[in-house]
Amino acid sequence: MNLLITGCCGHIGSYLAEHVHKIKKIKKTFIVDNLESNRFYSIFDTKKKNNLNFLIKDLNDPKSLDSLKNIDYVIHLASMTNAEKSFGKKDKMYKNNIQCLRTIINFCKKRKAKLIHISSTSVYGKQTKIVDENCEEKYLKPQSPYADIKLIEEKMLKKETKFLTYNTFRFGTISGVSKGIRFHTAVNKFCFNAAINEDINVYKTALNQYRPYLSLKDAFKVFKFSIENDFFKNDIFNALSGNFTVKQILKKIKKYKKKIKVKFVTSAIMNQLSYHVSQKKLNNEGLVLKSNIEKDIKETIELLKNI
Ligand SMILES: NC(=O)c1ccc[n+]([C@@H]2O[C@H](COP(=O)([O-])OP(=O)(O)OC[C@H]3O[C@@H](n4cnc5c(N)ncnc54)[C@H](O)[C@@H]3O)[C@@H](O)[C@H]2O)c1
Repeated sequence: MNLLITGCCGHIGSYLAEHVHKIKKIKKTFIVDNLESNRFYSIFDTKKKNNLNFLIKDLNDPKSLDSLKNIDYVIHLASMTNAEKSFGKKDKMYKNNIQCLRTIINFCKKRKAKLIHISSTSVYGKQTKIVDENCEEKYLKPQSPYADIKLIEEKMLKKETKFLTYNTFRFGTISGVSKGIRFHTAVNKFCFNAAINEDINVYKTALNQYRPYLSLKDAFKVFKFSIENDFFKNDIFNALSGNFTVKQILKKIKKYKKKIKVKFVTSAIMNQLSYHVSQKKLNNEGLVLKSNIEKDIKETIELLKNI
């Protein structure tokens, strides 16, 4: 079976490409990226056993994937992803991310490929104890253009449900090290600042707010499980390793970097909301995610130990 990974130079895509040999069903993997993020190094020193074929493709072009045939599965990760910066780049992000998904939907329909689509737990946004996939619309309150676009993407797929085989996974904020690691999300950014003795900027309201996090190791488990079990239900599933407060994350960082400096700041993305995201739906399908975020934190800080 052949796999196509879009956005392969990114944080998640580069991890997936490096470990894809562990998905036994997959014999050949095509990896594509437009290199907009300039992360060429993500494809350096790849292992032969992954049998990767890299193509520079911009999915803004609806015909960009026309030459690819015999693809059984698509893991779609190509996206503009900086939620905090999305306030100033709404139009560009909207255009890019929606068009990327359109290209992918048309490709999957034409080639009869099964699709894994990644959304985000940032689509939730109402103050409540616990949110799950079946929550009422009023609990879906994206707090940034980035999250807004994710909801639109989910709806685009729902509309295609008769013509497409897919799953959407709402990923928690990713932790962990990959070749294409980026540092603009909570855990990684905090680790980076701690490692170089910089202030850790924490949103004033966020210290005791619960948010969902997902280890890269668990993200990979989601992909492996889906392909090996042919798990495609045209449905939405939360994917997270756990819910934690910023205070709990900082405590984990302190285990590996004794002295840290915390500075409270304001941000457009900041809000008063605290919520737990439920893992039940995926658990009931037989996939339990519980990788240790603390291990990811240790590995991230170690990247910079000699600085
Ligand atoms: N990292 C997280 O914390 C997180 C959490 C939840 C959901 N997600 C979602 O998972 C997916 C992957 O995230 P990531 O962290 O790996 O992102 P990333 O920003 O690290 O990587 C995205 C990659 O997509 C590529 N890309 C963007 N536009 C493209 C286009 N038009 N054509 C081809 N390639 C294009 C970029 O060059 C980049 O290499 C995204 O959909 C993201 O929203 C990520």
